Amino acid sequence: MRVFIDCDPGIDDALALAYLTAQPEVELVGVGTVFGNNAVDTTTDNALRLLELYGAPEVPVARGAGRPLVQEPSLAESVHGANGLGDVVLPAPKGSPVEESAAELLVRLARANPGEIDLLAVGPLTNIALALGLEPELPRLLRRVVVMGGAVQEPGNVTPWAEANTSNDPEAAERVFAAGFDLTLVALDVTMKAVMPGSWLDALRGAAGERAQRTADFLDFYFGWYSSVFGVRQSAMHDPLAAGILVDPELVTRSVERPIRVELKGEYTRGLTIADLRPFSKPGDEDRPCVTLVQDADATTFLERMADALR
Ligand code: BDR
Ligand code: CA
Repeated sequence: MRVFIDCDPGIDDALALAYLTAQPEVELVGVGTVFGNNAVDTTTDNALRLLELYGAPEVPVARGAGRPLVQEPSLAESVHGANGLGDVVLPAPKGSPVEESAAELLVRLARANPGEIDLLAVGPLTNIALALGLEPELPRLLRRVVVMGGAVQEPGNVTPWAEANTSNDPEAAERVFAAGFDLTLVALDVTMKAVMPGSWLDALRGAAGERAQRTADFLDFYFGWYSSVFGVRQSAMHDPLAAGILVDPELVTRSVERPIRVELKGEYTRGLTIADLRPFSKPGDEDRPCVTLVQDADATTFLERMADALR
């Protein structure tokens, strides 16, 4: 399978890159970067460093949007460290970003390979919204899209209602959810339940090699943040779980088909992701395409595969 990832590395974005670069069936055709966990220059530099760490320096990296479509950007240094990678300094990259923007690279690859590319979007959806502006047929040109974002039946994480990726660019998310992609949404609903226990990180520490050890270094920082959230030593695994579901859709154990809307006006609820999940509502009720909202996933199998990917 041919995969384009749009990301804001970011510690859990790093894990998604580690996961994808380790799968023999995945050909990573491009990496787009976006502001989010840090400024776009930093997330771009991190993507280049991470591809070198994970043995895929040949994959083109395209710098994307430095700000949301409408609002001002906000970053997540407390969760991901001042450099976006838990203050772990990887060797300076040998490569540099390509000339095209992330949206331009995605559109060019999709046009050249219609129906063949899967998109994994694990940052604010700004680049994907910009790509839709360049190529309104993008939903037909991509095979499948998996998005990490939103919080439908769970609380948010940057506000009581809104998850970081949708909150960082609600207008972009709204455009993407309305566009008619074959889209699977991996929201906080599942990523806050399918957690990485501290014992998993301890086992990773026991594995040999730079790939495992540097990743464990980022995760030490991330576990520090999430252990304070959960009250026990464990971490959420947002972006890598979305990567796992892109590669192995059978990891999804429960899901529902519904349209997703993003609140753009609410005084307290801007960025909230909404689905009509009333027991009597049906997938075709609304004048908007459905997406697949993941409600549960096989976290045990995913964690085994994630560990394999880092060995
Ligand atoms: C999402 O926000 C970012 O901080 C993470 O990388 C992930 O994509 C989780 O809400
Ligand atoms: Ca991310």
